[in-house]
Amino acid sequence: MPQSIYVAPSLLAANFANLGDEITCITKAGADLVHLDVMDGHYVPNLTFGPALIKAIRSYTDLPFDVHLMIAPVDSFIEKFAQAGADLITIHPDSGPHLHRSLQCIKSLGKKAGVALNPATPLSDIEHVLDLVDQVLVMTVNPGFGGQQFIENQLAKIQALKTLITQRGHRIDLAVDGGITPKTAKQAITAGANILIAGTSIFSDGPHHYASHIKALKAAAD
Ligand code: DX5
Ligand code: ZN
Repeated sequence: MPQSIYVAPSLLAANFANLGDEITCITKAGADLVHLDVMDGHYVPNLTFGPALIKAIRSYTDLPFDVHLMIAPVDSFIEKFAQAGADLITIHPDSGPHLHRSLQCIKSLGKKAGVALNPATPLSDIEHVLDLVDQVLVMTVNPGFGGQQFIENQLAKIQALKTLITQRGHRIDLAVDGGITPKTAKQAITAGANILIAGTSIFSDGPHHYASHIKALKAAAD
């Protein structure tokens, strides 16, 4: 049986002047999760928002919040994002001194834990922490900006990861993030991804098109 495909719009490409309405619109349009890109101008060369904004928009949907932390050092902020309303907290292996400890911290707060791999990060960086992981996020662009080109050679990593997580005793979702369009979604799903994170390809034409864009991404699985 084909596995379910979930779509997580990345609010990075939404209208920041109207985030509450944007969340309402993507919820009605069929989104499965809300992806929130937190950037600190240090781990990545861009700045976005922090826990106060996430707390302010939490009540606009019942969908799970996937908070993607591109900040370093990350540890002292994990609890703040948990309290702000994150359901899943995704961190990068090189955003703190002890990845295992950071993931333990996320789990101890009762949240799902995700780990994100940059294009240059090998799978071996996470092999020994998978017991603590609910989602592996494969970056198919370098982190920091929306609207970049999908890096095709990451498909081999997705395939290898799929084999690795299928052997585990618990469910681990495989998310793909960066340059996702219906075309690249199909490639990612074929390689093994089941969560499609997309900013530009969902938000660029305005709210009337969110539902058709989300549907087109899901249809990539057919
Ligand atoms: C990039 C972010 C992505 C980004 C994707 O660092 O992690 O979530 O918003 O944007 P698009 O879909 O435009 O590549
Ligand atoms: Zn992201």
